Amino acid sequence: MDNPFKGRSLTVIDDFSLDERLYLFEKTRELKKAITENNLDELEKFRINNSDFGIYEVFIEDSTRTKESFKNAAAFHRVKLNTLETNYSSINKSESFADTFNTLCGYDNLIYIVRSQQEGLCRWLEENGKLYAQRNKMKQAPAFINAGDGKHEHPTQELLDEFTFLEQKNWDRESIHIALVGDLYHGRTVHSKADGLLIFKKVKVDLIAPPELGMPEYYLNKMKDNGFEIRIFDSIDSYIDNNDIAQLWYFTRPQLERMGDAILKRQDELRYRITFRKELMDKIPERTTFYHPLPRHKLHPTIPTFLDATPLNGWENQSANGKLIRIILLGLIAGTIGHDFTGIAKKTTEEPETHDYIQEVPVDENKTVKEYAEGVKPISSGLVIDHICRGEKEEDIRDHLARMIRVLALYGKGGEWISRSREYPDKMKGIIFRPEYSAPGIKKLKQIAALAPGCTVNVIREKKVVKKLKLNMPPKIYNFPNICCKNTDCISHSSQGENVPAEFKRITDDRFKCKYCENTHSFKEIWI
Ligand code: NCD
Repeated sequence: MDNPFKGRSLTVIDDFSLDERLYLFEKTRELKKAITENNLDELEKFRINNSDFGIYEVFIEDSTRTKESFKNAAAFHRVKLNTLETNYSSINKSESFADTFNTLCGYDNLIYIVRSQQEGLCRWLEENGKLYAQRNKMKQAPAFINAGDGKHEHPTQELLDEFTFLEQKNWDRESIHIALVGDLYHGRTVHSKADGLLIFKKVKVDLIAPPELGMPEYYLNKMKDNGFEIRIFDSIDSYIDNNDIAQLWYFTRPQLERMGDAILKRQDELRYRITFRKELMDKIPERTTFYHPLPRHKLHPTIPTFLDATPLNGWENQSANGKLIRIILLGLIAGTIGHDFTGIAKKTTEEPETHDYIQEVPVDENKTVKEYAEGVKPISSGLVIDHICRGEKEEDIRDHLARMIRVLALYGKGGEWISRSREYPDKMKGIIFRPEYSAPGIKKLKQIAALAPGCTVNVIREKKVVKKLKLNMPPKIYNFPNICCKNTDCISHSSQGENVPAEFKRITDDRFKCKYCENTHSFKEIWI
């Protein structure tokens, strides 16, 4: 049977299906048992055991656990591990990420472990790597493991966290009640929990953070959409006052390096609210365990060090599990492990594009045109785009008409105006008419739909509407030079200078998710 894991990238936790993650946990459990029992024959089964198999670590942000556990995992596998010295590499000479990684691919490396401040970098590298592999006739495209990208996600930490929770719960996946404490705004490890915790059937999450460090709306909504029960508290003190305290606490470090000056000035006060104190010891339930992805600040640890020698210490086992999880992950992506997987694998190919958001409306060819006559002579032939931005403010409609003309290059004779909707007289709408234009092709229609969802496109010949199309919001907006993700840390943001074309996926009626960093935008926010 084919190995569904071979050559796969892990850029966000959801890149692996629930079944795939559970399989990975099961294998990690087997590995841990073999290590505990010193069962050398069993251990051999997990190894890649190929000194030509190339793995590269590229850490553009600091790291101890993630980097070193991968290094130790690679040593277990007896493979070729290289580390790019990013402080002394041509990244500092403004070389693009695409060029840097293409170079390393040329030296026969197949797995890249990447940490960066740029969000969505691995998603981009995965796409770019496929093209490189095609061009250079590589047998297999390179795989990219996200080892933490800005404040986006940290999928391998998520794997080891979930494995650790499963261990603590004796592999009972019925339910989990967990408190997430600390910098939930910048902490990528807690963002990955929005999908990661789905391995439990019933999930209750208590979010404990001052509002300035609160969980971003996107992840909060994702947790709610995933059916999690959520409660929000602004400090450990206010949490302790409620009578339903979780036995599992997951701390995250205040990420000072990502904070603006305004928040940094208040760091002591903010930190106090998410730091555990001795006098709270007898207020927490029996058998509570604390976890932390680490590092802890040596002067201001939010889990004080006197707890190290108490049963609350779950973070040391958690950290040690990191190496085991990463051994299995590398083995899966290398294709050494995974042949006996029988569950549901994640679909890795995109659904083919459909055009059902473009609908043809029947027309009465005997009726002559009179409806496009406000202020000017009715046009006898050409193109009329009607119902643009219906119901919006006049100045916004005017701005958007100008944007449409610019982006679609709707230059030439004709005009555009704002008028009252005939069907909804209390609403304004925009109209563009172009007498010399012919019927638009599918590519143009897709572009018009992306810019003016809800509009109608009318093709007029000899004073009659010969074709009418209603265009709805398309599922994807891409391939426009005039769209941009608003997150400056996103790899596709123009300020990054990486020439990554922006792309958005519709997630609700008016929310669009950036393909790379997953920040959400309203329809209008996409356009520059
Ligand atoms: C975390 C990270 O880098 O996201 N640490 C880790 O990987 N173990 C958390 C942090 O930096 O605070």
